[in-house]
Amino acid sequence: MNEEKVRLAEELVRKGLDEKKLRHKLGPDWRLLVEIAKARIRARDKFSRDDLWMDLEGLRYATHEVVARYRAERLEEFGVRSIADVSCGIGIQVIFYAMKVEKACGVDLDPLKVEFAKRNAERYGVTNIQFIHGDSLSPEIIERITAEVIFSDPARPPEMPERKLEDLLPSPLKIYEAYKSKTDSFIFDLPPQMRREKVPWRGEFEYIDLYGHLNRLTFYTEPLARAERSAVILPAGVRLENDPDLEHIVEWTAEPGDYLYEIPPAVDYADLINELFHSLDGTPMMLLREKRRVLATGNELLRSPYLKRTYALVGTIPFHPVRINDFLRREGFGRATLKMSVPQQEYWRLRKRIEANLRGDRRAFVFRLGDRALIAEEVYSS
Ligand SMILES: C[S@@+](CC[C@H](N)C(=O)[O-])C[C@H]1O[C@@H](n2cnc3c(N)ncnc32)[C@H](O)[C@@H]1O
Repeated sequence: MNEEKVRLAEELVRKGLDEKKLRHKLGPDWRLLVEIAKARIRARDKFSRDDLWMDLEGLRYATHEVVARYRAERLEEFGVRSIADVSCGIGIQVIFYAMKVEKACGVDLDPLKVEFAKRNAERYGVTNIQFIHGDSLSPEIIERITAEVIFSDPARPPEMPERKLEDLLPSPLKIYEAYKSKTDSFIFDLPPQMRREKVPWRGEFEYIDLYGHLNRLTFYTEPLARAERSAVILPAGVRLENDPDLEHIVEWTAEPGDYLYEIPPAVDYADLINELFHSLDGTPMMLLREKRRVLATGNELLRSPYLKRTYALVGTIPFHPVRINDFLRREGFGRATLKMSVPQQEYWRLRKRIEANLRGDRRAFVFRLGDRALIAEEVYSS
């Protein structure tokens, strides 16, 4: 496995060569080389470097660089000097932590991941990480590790039916038990949809949005907690914390005002809508709360890094594809984005009918509110 061979594999994969030719040109390691090449091609948006070492599984699990950097900066604020990542994968998070501490350690059960992580640390020019191959729950490894903070971003089996701590690999419950005699500072990545009651420790639940989508839920035990719940919007880098002393000002309305405000998923998941409303200059009201969409409304044009987008309402009409299409044509919209939950097969049919023969530069956003369609145009995006 060397750089030259991976570069060649990337070139051949891009050319679309078949298996036989790939094997012939790349030799006995061809399968792994092709996988690394494919992972690098797919990873383009995730990392600032294009020469990292990873297989496809490693890439899928790897922390996005923007998130890894944010979390390392947060750790730095606590003056932590050492950290051990006990399920480090291809090492992205531990590499960024290592940039902010004196000494770091990365452990993984999979020898290939450890090899990739070592090479990735070299790529980033980080030299203060000790990498260990092994089971972080085994007595030998537990004994070897001494660090002020234990971090774990466990693997989530895709078939995991209910989101439970026991099902994560390694389970945070077991990691806590194994290392609690060494430290009380733990950081765990948890499935963002997990119910907070399932976590048996006191601390902070930090929900992180990345480019408008919920990306991570990080749990910090008490010594590292700043609040009970928080939401972080990346790459903007703004943060909202719960404040139980605030007056409750969230009210609902069934009638949209002149503007629609899209609330970031992290704010909704962290139950911080009241805190968000307090931070805004206007007086919004809640309009819609669906699994993938939370909208508030009001008559002020609000711009805030805590809002995902602000839309100006152009019209409210009965929800019928033909009526919507007529309206969009009349108003000179050339494109429409459907902002509603529709089954995949139906989505394209609906979109085709709504977008039939549209002409113009304007882009409409179409929301569904009961039996009404709200046609809106974006005026602000954070
Ligand atoms: C979600 S990945 C970590 C990704 C990593 N944070 C990154 O930024 O690239 C989880 C890793 O935990 C490892 N793992 C699972 N059980 C383990 C155990 N008992 N000991 C050590 N590593 C384990 C898996 O091999 C996998 O690489």
